[in-house]
Amino acid sequence: MRRGLILLTAALIAVLLCGCGAVAEHGPTLLLRCADNQPEDYPTTKAAEYFASLVEARTDGRVVIRVFPNAELGGEKSVFEQMQFGGIDFARVSVGTLAAEVPEAEMLQLPYLFRDAEHMWRVLDGKIGDELLLSVRRADVVGLSWFDAGARNIYTREPVASLQDLKGLTIRVQESELMSEMIRLWGAIPVQMVYSEVYSALETGSIDGAENNWPSYEATGHFEAAPYYLLDGHARLPELLLISKVTLEKITALDSSYGDILIQCAREAAIYERELWKEREGASEALVRENGCIVTELDDAALQEFREAVTPLYEGFPPEIQTLIRQIQAA
Ligand code: GCU
Repeated sequence: MRRGLILLTAALIAVLLCGCGAVAEHGPTLLLRCADNQPEDYPTTKAAEYFASLVEARTDGRVVIRVFPNAELGGEKSVFEQMQFGGIDFARVSVGTLAAEVPEAEMLQLPYLFRDAEHMWRVLDGKIGDELLLSVRRADVVGLSWFDAGARNIYTREPVASLQDLKGLTIRVQESELMSEMIRLWGAIPVQMVYSEVYSALETGSIDGAENNWPSYEATGHFEAAPYYLLDGHARLPELLLISKVTLEKITALDSSYGDILIQCAREAAIYERELWKEREGASEALVRENGCIVTELDDAALQEFREAVTPLYEGFPPEIQTLIRQIQAA
């Protein structure tokens, strides 16, 4: 009895020491959590699952990651805050989540920064993208790879077909000052709100509209409440697969080669996500169109009005970020 108790206590201590894992033959294992606010069948969540399976296989089962979809671990901002002290180990987040703490992340939210997807990937897959991944370390998290999230567009409950029609409408944005200012410059009223609350706000009419990419517009059901989708393509917000610095230290303490393994697995997961993204973008667009959404394209002159109105946003950054903006524009 007494021996049993001692063994149980020893096992418990082992579990606590190695972060709620178990003691496998080849040493302790880590059981870790990864947050995503999208549903299970969404490209980012599937890629996070793929990442977890690669990491488990390449660490001989010593690093086990469980993915929690649907914001089960909380909204993105709260997840990020928990990651800063190691409360959550990994997350896939929109770059906007880091904007308040990392000026480089805020810069990536600038409307019309990237000319198109090809331009964005040239930047993110190159030297600038690697430096941007490093820049988030300042916020006690480490960027592992970039995921695609397409282009964001405005959608509304009532018909909106031009910049003029947006005036005075309340539009939901991420919890971001830059996105709020963008909406103000368009003459509308920004409402910062956590993603999971947007559907009911649209349904009850407490906001007039929101903005997001095709797959999010479709997966959340926002298209049912706000069927007018205006293709202004204002932002390409890349997404990040992040690890908490605290977790990275725990993992590399198990084996110093695991840091490189994580990065390699995250890059492979990103390639997978980008493939899934392309398919889902087309499927989501088709689905919302079939369901009667009214999609408005803007001609060059109308699009130019959207662009010109937000140029002041480019002026508020410190000189080193201004330089980065110019490098991105020239890429
Ligand atoms: C996208 C993104 C989410 C983000 C959301 C938002 O859907 O994938 O991670 O939370 O935009 O607008 O908040």
